[in-house]
Amino acid sequence: MPEFKTVRGMRDFLPEEARIMKYIERRARNVAESFGYREIVTPLVESYELLATKAGEEVRLRMFAFKDLGGRMVALRPEFTPSIARVVATTLRNEPRPLRLFCLGSLYRYDEPQRGRYREFWQSDFELIGSSRPEADAEVLSATNRLMDRVGLRDCVFKVGHVGVLRGVLTEEGLNDKVQNAVLQLMDKKQFDDALALVKNSGASEKSLTVLRSLVELKGNRVSKIVEDMKKCVDSYEKAVVAVENLSEILRLVVESGCEISVSVEAGFARGLEYYTGMIFEVYVPELDVALSGGGRYDKLVELFGGEPAPAVGVANGIDRIMLAMQEQHVIMEEAVEKKVIIIPVGDETKTDALKIAGMLRGANTMVEFEVMGRKMTKALEDADRRKIDYAVIVGKKELDERKVGLKDLKKREQITVGIEELTETLKN
Ligand code: HAM
Repeated sequence: MPEFKTVRGMRDFLPEEARIMKYIERRARNVAESFGYREIVTPLVESYELLATKAGEEVRLRMFAFKDLGGRMVALRPEFTPSIARVVATTLRNEPRPLRLFCLGSLYRYDEPQRGRYREFWQSDFELIGSSRPEADAEVLSATNRLMDRVGLRDCVFKVGHVGVLRGVLTEEGLNDKVQNAVLQLMDKKQFDDALALVKNSGASEKSLTVLRSLVELKGNRVSKIVEDMKKCVDSYEKAVVAVENLSEILRLVVESGCEISVSVEAGFARGLEYYTGMIFEVYVPELDVALSGGGRYDKLVELFGGEPAPAVGVANGIDRIMLAMQEQHVIMEEAVEKKVIIIPVGDETKTDALKIAGMLRGANTMVEFEVMGRKMTKALEDADRRKIDYAVIVGKKELDERKVGLKDLKKREQITVGIEELTETLKN
């Protein structure tokens, strides 16, 4: 047999890594609940068409797509948003709005594997459906900021833009959706010259090229100043002005609500996914050059999937990259430290009683391991030490006859004899 390895781009999470991952997931779930988001679980495999419709080239070309045995064209989900939009358009179509939904799980994209980029990765996804108001966008930004804070990350920067600004200019210049999507894809990849060339070749005016060129230059953390400049820059494009005003109101709400968030506005910012219609954002930390989270407003997707029109805004937080950032920033996880206990029977004759004691302690919510290797006492204790177990309960025949056991504090190296009935209480104290 060959030596089996994980498939390229796929990883095992060994206990220490899995512990961090599950910690982030717990925090994400807590934040979701604290904002009123309810968790739903959707399938890993969805119809190719659903996932491909508004994914954008980048994601569409990288899907794990295949025909199932029934001949259906399907794919492993590369993101949660289409699945949630499908649920809202169908099963939940008559639910009162707003709907706040939350998903957690693995996603698949055939990306080139590198640090922070994998073919299997995890997201915690928040979607707020039913409101077109700026307070909904502000809520998604603030929930994302809360999550970063709850996992202990520092110096996060929210890069924020609005696709309505660029699309506003391009629409008024008469460019169709297909060309607009291609332009935004290029801008997402920072290929600004190619993007401008495409705009030019599609018949747009010289004025629009000057406007777009200036927009790309407009960025920074002086939020009101940049927004003011954006407005001046696009003042002859009515739709773009409306978009800047919307962005300005969202940012005003976020900042004035006291949410401690560091924002950098980028007028020429675009994201690869095609369904965005409004505010878009990504979250960065100085230690990594890839985004930890990405999101934005998508007002047409639910409708496109056959549902009642439903404005929506959401975010997906990349758990793998949050993990990387936590490691880079040496974040110490705030976890309740549980005491660990090992039960060691002395010889075979006390085994059943030792098992009963293990059951009793587990019933009182103590983490208990049982010595299953049949090792002699010294070896079993050495191993417990190595694995940083706190206490050993030693079950010997002589003590057992008096309903007692030995309790050894492995850190202090002290041993006492305790009545079995008192054991739970003694360990708690
Ligand atoms: P996205 O920007 O494609 O947005 O992905 C969101 C996050 O998922 C990224 O910021 C990153 O942390 C993580 N991610 C994406 N691809 C990979 C990869 N290959 N390896 C590791 N992590 C990755 C979406 O998925 C949208 N559905 C977000 C959204 C929700 N928009 C509205 N609602």
